[in-house]
Amino acid sequence: MKLKDFRLDFEAMLSEAVFGHGFLHYGYWPEGRPATPSARALGEAQQAWFDRMRAEIPSGTATILDVGSGTGANALALTRAGFQVECLSPSAQLNAMARAKLPATVPVHETGFETLDLPRRFDLCLFGESFHYIQQETALDQIERYAGRAALIFDYFRREGAGEDGRRQTHAAFLAALAQRPGWRVALDEDVTAAILPTFYVLDHLKNAHVGPFLTRFRAEFRRSRPLLSRGVEAVLGRRIERFLKPSMREATFGEAFEYRLIRLERTS
Ligand SMILES: C[S@@+](CC[C@H](N)C(=O)[O-])C[C@H]1O[C@@H](n2cnc3c(N)ncnc32)[C@H](O)[C@@H]1O
Repeated sequence: MKLKDFRLDFEAMLSEAVFGHGFLHYGYWPEGRPATPSARALGEAQQAWFDRMRAEIPSGTATILDVGSGTGANALALTRAGFQVECLSPSAQLNAMARAKLPATVPVHETGFETLDLPRRFDLCLFGESFHYIQQETALDQIERYAGRAALIFDYFRREGAGEDGRRQTHAAFLAALAQRPGWRVALDEDVTAAILPTFYVLDHLKNAHVGPFLTRFRAEFRRSRPLLSRGVEAVLGRRIERFLKPSMREATFGEAFEYRLIRLERTS
């Protein structure tokens, strides 16, 4: 298992244990930073992200393909709202969490979107922070195949000039690729980066003001009370701990590297 996959699985477990809902997306803060940067505020902002996404589902939508369905938290809320949902994700761990919380009538396909092979279409393909995982042209081919009426993308794009990683596309490249495909119109395309950034303000604060100092105190105490064992642990994990203890500044770095957008594509023919 790759470290990134493990991190996502771990965050999923935390999200369920701490907040109860299991959302794996960032928070949405239209009013800016919260007065108290707490885990509770983050959980509420993740719900606000869902509410904003839900408000952009076109009227008349009955069936939804939830691409990159995480722990099934979005799918559960959408099912309760009366939509007929199918989920897909390549992660066995996340799918197990989704199956445990979803009604048995909601299929969870264990595959990437690239290799999904179903004999039907859906009114809407939903990408909740999952679009950037998928190679762009393949994602657009599969949208052509599966999205009967619309696609909703709530996700981030790499900024022009910011670290090319071969996977995340720029927003301009996305629009250019889309322009090559007749039959679609961009019905909504909003830059919501400013409303997402407080997520990092809260995460930075939780780490820099709480978790980091706690770990530093614990480490010193451990070194004092268990010097031999501590030396062993430090030999294996010391560098990682040092790296972790460096203050986080993701609120600044995320905004420099990425733009977060809410995009709705509608089929015109
Ligand atoms: C950041 S999580 C978002 C989960 C969920 N949509 C949410 O809003 O909480 C990204 C999801 O995309 C999935 N994913 C990763 N690669 C994928 C791919 N190639 N095709 C479809 N989903 C993928 C992950 O397994 C995970 O479920």
